[in-house]
Amino acid sequence: MGHRYFKRFRMEIDLTRLSPDETPLPSGYVWSAWDSSLTSRHAQAKFASFHREIDALVFPCLSSYSGCRRLMREIARRDSFLPEATWLLSHLGSPDDDPRDCGTIQGLAQQGHVGSIQNVGIAPEHRGCGLGRALVLKALAGFRHARMRRVYLEVTAENEPAVELYRSIGFRLTRTLYKAVEIQPSSVS
Ligand SMILES: CC(C)(COP(=O)(O)OP(=O)(O)OC[C@H]1O[C@@H](n2cnc3c(N)ncnc32)[C@H](O)[C@@H]1OP(=O)(O)O)[C@@H](O)C(=O)NCCC(=O)NCCS
Repeated sequence: MGHRYFKRFRMEIDLTRLSPDETPLPSGYVWSAWDSSLTSRHAQAKFASFHREIDALVFPCLSSYSGCRRLMREIARRDSFLPEATWLLSHLGSPDDDPRDCGTIQGLAQQGHVGSIQNVGIAPEHRGCGLGRALVLKALAGFRHARMRRVYLEVTAENEPAVELYRSIGFRLTRTLYKAVEIQPSSVS
């Protein structure tokens, strides 16, 4: 067993100075507001979004559906959990099909009107058409509604799509951190 250090950025947005607007969804996509009956669907969307990505190495629970479900339950149980900033995104296929869950985001309300974003994820086949941006903006609208003044998140530095997404919305780098992760020799690249 070895260790690998992942460089992570803490990024913040000041909602008192910047007020990003929500963007409309491409046709065929729908939002679901938080409801505890959606825990497993959020977990499924999280697993689809993360299990092949760098963050599944940084946070091994993201590499399995059961880990994602545990994490989702744990987030939703916290006192700081913020339903207004927690959204599920689904794609409606043909009228006979069930909606396919393809995006998830969760929010927490910390002390001092500070919000934090957890686990922004879009399933691979739905990326590149503005859904990640729509998801973050939807959550930011929820944070504003809950009177949060600032919102922060952490992102793995080498996750360029995510870093660029947050930067393009107006998040700014405030801190660099290193997270030590125990890695099996076979998974170190
Ligand atoms: C990060 C993620 C949510 C982006 O979702 P997406 O739906 O593809 O993003 P969007 O189509 O809304 O793109 C919005 C912006 O993000 C940035 N971006 C998205 N994909 C990018 C890529 N491959 N390379 C560089 N920038 C990228 C761009 O700034 C883009 O704006 P533009 O289209 O005007 O250039 C998605 O890649 C994902 O789920 N990744 C795996 C899970 C993950 O790592 N989540 C982040 C955890 S912190």
